[in-house]
Amino acid sequence: MSGLSKKRVLLIIGGGIAAYKTLDLIRRLREKGIAVRAVMTAAAQHFATPLSVASLSGEKVFTDLFSLTDEAAIGHIELSREADLIVVAPATADLLAKMAHGLANDLASTLLLATDKKILVAPAMNLRMWLAAPTVRNVATLRADGVIFSGPGDGDMACGEYGPGRMSEPLEILAAIEAALTGDTVLPLPAYPRADAAVAGALDGRRVVVTSGPTHEPIDPVRYIANRSSGKQGHAIAAAAQAAGASVTLVSGPVALADPAGVTTVHVETADEMRRAVEAALPADIFIGAAAVADWRTAETAPEKLKKAAGAEQSLTLVQNPDILAAIGWRDRDRPALVVGFAAETESLIEHAQKKRLAKGCDLIVANNVGRGSNVFGGEMNEVTLIAADGSERWPSLSKKEVATKLIARLARQLNEARI
Ligand code: CTP
Repeated sequence: MSGLSKKRVLLIIGGGIAAYKTLDLIRRLREKGIAVRAVMTAAAQHFATPLSVASLSGEKVFTDLFSLTDEAAIGHIELSREADLIVVAPATADLLAKMAHGLANDLASTLLLATDKKILVAPAMNLRMWLAAPTVRNVATLRADGVIFSGPGDGDMACGEYGPGRMSEPLEILAAIEAALTGDTVLPLPAYPRADAAVAGALDGRRVVVTSGPTHEPIDPVRYIANRSSGKQGHAIAAAAQAAGASVTLVSGPVALADPAGVTTVHVETADEMRRAVEAALPADIFIGAAAVADWRTAETAPEKLKKAAGAEQSLTLVQNPDILAAIGWRDRDRPALVVGFAAETESLIEHAQKKRLAKGCDLIVANNVGRGSNVFGGEMNEVTLIAADGSERWPSLSKKEVATKLIARLARQLNEARI
């Protein structure tokens, strides 16, 4: 079991339809060995029953600020302090407003005001409520107070509309809780209102160069060395950067994907061609090396098709290809302000990726586990950990498109906040 098995979470359940997902969250926290004590607001009890919450958490559920029996058994101040982390899910507009203003007129809001522990919220509300000026102000206040946000995401709403305000999925909240409990949330989680949806315009006037796909290194006129990269992640990143307003050059190895609309796509075969195309596309504000560049090429390409002699072994002499990412990361002149690499690893993910970041002079490495069973190559989903100089941030399993949007939102924020 993980080092989380002795941790305690105080879970405050607000009144929203998303409360049903919170039941799943409790189950998943318990699976990790994390103890969960739940508090429900009056409104929450319309969406989930204290009995179901108690059965799943295995602990008494607290609902009433003025319960003499509860207060005698465990005072509300103690309840707010004994946990390692306070989680509010779903965090309604009303709860966020109370938190931002320090109101304490029921058990949930009193605990939130009285706690000395970190608070993580998973907002859930109608998109107009999420985008309403008071909520935007409250979210900014809470962020400044150090409250950690998980979501909300975009999606279909119970009310029939589509947009931001949908509560993060239990696994996403779980990942945020684990990160908060283990203290490795050094990088801020996306927490601005509409963070991931609102990248439109975030890269206006910026230039972005992305590499994608595999490279093919010829052996002879009909054979080549290749790898399993599909290019889906790199192409999604180029499309997301374009959607954010950037002028994008995508340097792509051979893939079975359409060129993303509005992106200048340069098609190459070999690592050497990729290197030259990248250099020709500079200068840029951001370089993202998502290609699975072949590490080796044959020392010589046979001019004619190699013929086999019956039963004889054939050997190939391989020489190393140029490292495109390292060349960009260590450039003296015209180095892009942000250089981002990927690290495909099958073991010791974080350790190897950290070393890669330093060795290749990158600002950020997006590390993913491509070990057996991960299904990253060619698949639709990706589970990545972002590694920067000041810490790491683990993202839950997301579609490659979502990874691309979140990554671009994050890079845009970094560029804009640093006023580079
Ligand atoms: N990369 C590159 N040029 C190369 C090799 C890799 O630009 N010749 C870039 C990739 O695009 C990726 C990063 O370097 O962003 C890491 O690629 P990866 O294959 O994980 O690492 P390698 O450097 O090849 O190291 P190893 O294979 O030993 O793990």
